[in-house]
Amino acid sequence: MITVKTIEEARNQMKSWKKEGYSIALVPTMGSLHEGHASLINRASKENEKVVVSIFVNPIQFGPNEDLSSYPRDLDKDSILCEKAGAHLIFAPETSEMYYTDMVTGVSVQGLTTGLCGAKRPGHFNGVCTVVSKLFNIIPADKAYFGEKDAQQLAIIKRMVRDLNFDIEIIGCPIVREDDGLAKSSRNAYLSSKERQAALVLNRSLTKGKELLSSGEKSTELLKKIIRNVLQNEVLAKIDYIEVVDAMSLNDVELVNKPILIAIAVFIGKTRLIDNFIWEA
Ligand code: PAF
Repeated sequence: MITVKTIEEARNQMKSWKKEGYSIALVPTMGSLHEGHASLINRASKENEKVVVSIFVNPIQFGPNEDLSSYPRDLDKDSILCEKAGAHLIFAPETSEMYYTDMVTGVSVQGLTTGLCGAKRPGHFNGVCTVVSKLFNIIPADKAYFGEKDAQQLAIIKRMVRDLNFDIEIIGCPIVREDDGLAKSSRNAYLSSKERQAALVLNRSLTKGKELLSSGEKSTELLKKIIRNVLQNEVLAKIDYIEVVDAMSLNDVELVNKPILIAIAVFIGKTRLIDNFIWEA
């Protein structure tokens, strides 16, 4: 496995792999890798001959009061995980390599970006779409792999790829959980042991929601109420949002009669965690 830091080095390697006729996968990440990322890299390496992992903490997707400066960074540790999981190349540029200081161009997706996390994190998805577009231009992969934990991000990227005719297939991969049900996330590292325990309420509330849906309930209001009740029983939890939306358009739905995304964002102490599941009616 090799690690490159410049766009030129990455492009040269891509040119040579393309010339050899290799299929190429891209797994975009911000580092601080865990088993969730390993599962993406693993799947990518089963389905493609060469796997590129990008590791870049993208400053333009963080709001002014978010955790850009404290976001965990450990390239050596990440490299070990990448190699074990089957990556062939890490692209780990500095911010100055990715962004011109006088850059005036960005990618913005309308509609799908306004609700859920987009409502609370203005500009976040413009930052994501811009960096992902740049990565697609730097690494001309056949397929790119994203986690379903960031369900809104995945829906937005799929739409962007369709609308802008990027020649790449977007693959969504299932959420990876700890044994006790907590969805793996780089931000779990911020939790104290008490908060770590309290964070289990996210999955517990979604499990209650699933039970309700399995019993045949169609009202999304009732669904949200049940999830809210579970979350409110945890003193360390502060609900950011509970949303039930059309899984494709991310528009609100009142009745469960098509595939829906049930997504929650909850502060546990200062740490904002997200979780979700998709229900196929
Ligand atoms: O999901 C992430 O880690 C980031 O949003 C991504 C897609 C790597 C863009 O910076």
